[in-house]
Amino acid sequence: MKPLRFLITAGPTREFFDPIRYISNRSSGKMGYAIAAACRKISPHVTLVTGPVTLPEPAGVKCVPVTTAAEMAREVFRRYAKADVVIMTAAVCDYRPRRVASKKLKKTGQRLVLELEPTTDILLELGKRKRRQILIGFAAETDELERHALDKLRRKRLDLIVANDASAFDADTNCVTLFFADGRVERLPEMSKWKVARQLLQRILDSAIR
Ligand code: CTP
Repeated sequence: MKPLRFLITAGPTREFFDPIRYISNRSSGKMGYAIAAACRKISPHVTLVTGPVTLPEPAGVKCVPVTTAAEMAREVFRRYAKADVVIMTAAVCDYRPRRVASKKLKKTGQRLVLELEPTTDILLELGKRKRRQILIGFAAETDELERHALDKLRRKRLDLIVANDASAFDADTNCVTLFFADGRVERLPEMSKWKVARQLLQRILDSAIR
């Protein structure tokens, strides 16, 4: 059997409103990097499209650094056709400033209002264009975990969504619930993100989500 081709995203994106300032989020990239390293153990074809993080590149993984949601979308879309398994762990910013000043904004002592516009929902687009790919999403929620996760699973036509409490941001451990497209639900105990990565990969290899 041919080794699977993995396309993984990790980390936050940054959305600039002047040359040096941006909005972003607390994502550390640890979960996505751990998944990429786990996948690399079973396949030479692992690409990691990564937002700005401070982690070392996993050995043998093709890393594609990006900064903004638009860059991440472009790099993921161009690699999608060849991918067998896509795992979107990135905390892609849902909004970006509508205007980007070409020079550093000077303070005026007055209020400053930033107008935001939606970014492309990469995973939603992947779901629409899905052919044979196994599509896996992540959902970090602060409330009604199950309802929100199931909504995302269906709306984005995923095979599996990995849901966790938003408190897992930046942590070394994670306590996740797996919601499969066929209705199965699996709650894993709290464990290191490395172990979550291995468990997730095992589920993919079992083809339990097909
Ligand atoms: N995602 C994406 N593109 C975006 C935003 C999110 O591909 N612009 C992906 C994430 O990588 C993750 C999943 O979608 O796998 C998260 O789902 P999403 O509905 O966007 O969750 P939130 O960003 O938390 O937004 P909300 O809960 O407000 O719907």
